[in-house]
Amino acid sequence: MDTSFVKSPEVQKLLDRAAGIEESGGNPRLKAIMRDLIESAMTVIVKHDVSESEFWLAVKYLAEGSGELGLIVPGIGLEHFIDLFLDAKDAQAGRVGGTPRTIEGPLYVAGAPLVEGDAALTVDPDEGAHTLYMSGAVTGPDGEPVENAIVHVWHANSQGWYSHFDPTGEQTPFNNRRRIKLGKDGRYAFHSKQPSGYSVPPGGATDQLMQALGRHGNRPAHVHFFIEAPGYRTLTTQINFGDDPFAADDFAFGTREGLLPVPNRQGDAAYIAFDFQLQRASDAEDEGFSARARAAAEPVDAA
Ligand code: DHB
Ligand code: FE
Repeated sequence: MDTSFVKSPEVQKLLDRAAGIEESGGNPRLKAIMRDLIESAMTVIVKHDVSESEFWLAVKYLAEGSGELGLIVPGIGLEHFIDLFLDAKDAQAGRVGGTPRTIEGPLYVAGAPLVEGDAALTVDPDEGAHTLYMSGAVTGPDGEPVENAIVHVWHANSQGWYSHFDPTGEQTPFNNRRRIKLGKDGRYAFHSKQPSGYSVPPGGATDQLMQALGRHGNRPAHVHFFIEAPGYRTLTTQINFGDDPFAADDFAFGTREGLLPVPNRQGDAAYIAFDFQLQRASDAEDEGFSARARAAAEPVDAA
């Protein structure tokens, strides 16, 4: 059967009713989006002649895998797509330049200790891990130092696990997570136990999907950032290690040109010099964070 079946009067009437189109209450924008979303699902079902069993398998997958939706969304390229969409809209509005944005990922935790100066991110033991030293400048569009910025930085440990989400339970809540308060010169520096590449939890919903697609669930070693500063647009980005085996094959599509520094390795130490350039904010909304729901933990005193 062809997809024109979805356009039949009976199915179109069903869509109107399902999306509450004829009801006076509810949210009109949500109704319009839901109608298109349900119609798209119906079109996929018809186009691929999805069987009843396959349909219910998909429902079961979503129900049971919902706890990993934050991992599945980057894995299927949707989080990167949002970056591409935002970039395209920026380009249309003439807002170009600066450090590229890239995916936040699902593993940020709000409330990390706010520290100044050369920040030590790692508080837990991480035997045998090399030390990462990263530093640089935060500037604006004209190269001016950005004053009073806060750099939120978070990364995995040498096992690839993030504190707060570590199934081994071995990390304290804010290990490898800090907010660094910068001064007038806009310079930042931190050191930590070097992260390893990240893999999705073995046997979980994301892993199952990746295997079924003939893909893997690995990311290169990387460090996440939010950079916020008065008058500037909050930047969400990350650097991925250019010398990691997965640097050119990130399952989450978070690696971007300009964000792949190769660490300078000297024995057990790795050095990354990296400057960030922010765009100026056009309004208050621009300065703030997206309204994404994020994990939070109780603030603790900086170690
Ligand atoms: C995922 C994990 C990350 O550490 C990240 O930065 C992005 C995505 C994930 O599991 O999907
Ligand atoms: Fe990550």
